[in-house]
Amino acid sequence: MDPTPNRTVPGEGIEADRYVCPDLRVRPDGIDAETQLVGVLGYPVRHSLSPLMHNAAFRHLGLNWVYLAFEVPPESLADAVRGMRALGIRGLNLTIPHKEASLALVDALTPAAQAIGAVNTLFWDEGRLIGDNTDAEGFLRAVRSAGCALGGMALVLGAGGAARAVVYALKSIGCPVVLANRTPERGRALGHALGVEQVLPLTQEALRPLMPQVQLVVNCTPVGMEPDIDTMPDVPLDALPSGAWVCDLVYRPVQTRLLRTAQQRGCLTIDGLGMLVYQGALAFERWTGIPAPLEIMREALVSSTTV
Ligand SMILES: NC(=O)c1ccc[n+]([C@@H]2O[C@H](COP(=O)([O-])OP(=O)(O)OC[C@H]3O[C@@H](n4cnc5c(N)ncnc54)[C@H](OP(=O)(O)O)[C@@H]3O)[C@@H](O)[C@H]2O)c1
Repeated sequence: MDPTPNRTVPGEGIEADRYVCPDLRVRPDGIDAETQLVGVLGYPVRHSLSPLMHNAAFRHLGLNWVYLAFEVPPESLADAVRGMRALGIRGLNLTIPHKEASLALVDALTPAAQAIGAVNTLFWDEGRLIGDNTDAEGFLRAVRSAGCALGGMALVLGAGGAARAVVYALKSIGCPVVLANRTPERGRALGHALGVEQVLPLTQEALRPLMPQVQLVVNCTPVGMEPDIDTMPDVPLDALPSGAWVCDLVYRPVQTRLLRTAQQRGCLTIDGLGMLVYQGALAFERWTGIPAPLEIMREALVSSTTV
């Protein structure tokens, strides 16, 4: 059949030619009958940096694996996971809006996925499909690898999915946690579920008395993210003690206004790429059983984000 240049991919209305990589016309990139498939399910998902990060790791290690992004609407999630079982897809990441709905589609959950109430990684263990959450452990590794010896009081900003993983992680190693959220009821619900010491409104006035005791502030809100890069959460950084740490989960841009302001106040800072790399590295290791090349993965992300 004569291919028409303007045909569209069913269901997406996107030109099929967009998917033709010029390199692949001359170089099939090693994909053959042995190639193993992993990927991410999301809706939308075309902005995801995970394919870049994982494919860079596979290339670096010479693994015959490929990582693809699948745009799957919520009503097709169960079919997609059945398809994974039928096709022998080796692993998947799940992103918005599938992290909660996938809890019911696996054979077993890890303790982290169960406690957080969200799955971001599917992997196989002796023929059983396991739902895991690598965000929590990824966060801890990122913070520790930056040199922050956790143990003191942590102030977590936000009460969404990311905050849930971060609070679970901090509580799992015995850190006292104070949560601050814009919508108090949502903050209280998360605080109650995960045993948080104190829940406060996310305002300068409410937080100021607490700040001298805080060792680590973690921004789990999207405030400061592109395109609103001149904004930052309403926290009195000037009242933090010397040697305090500020971590921003936002990674677009990498150097957020919150991190720049914290540095000016003499705080130590941790950007959002660390958690992104480590949660991906943990998934990579669940799938392949091989230590992930962290620097290669981080480089792939840095080259695609605004610093
Ligand atoms: N680095 C990483 O690996 C990583 C991993 C996960 C997430 N993230 C980033 O973390 C951020 C949060 O993600 P999420 O999935 O947790 O989002 P989410 O579930 O939508 O939760 C967002 C939270 O931020 C609060 N919030 C939103 N806009 C706000 C504003 N203008 N002022 C004050 N608070 C505001 C919300 O407060 P209300 O409850 O009042 O609505 C809510 O608690 C995103 O930027 C995401 O990209 C990064």
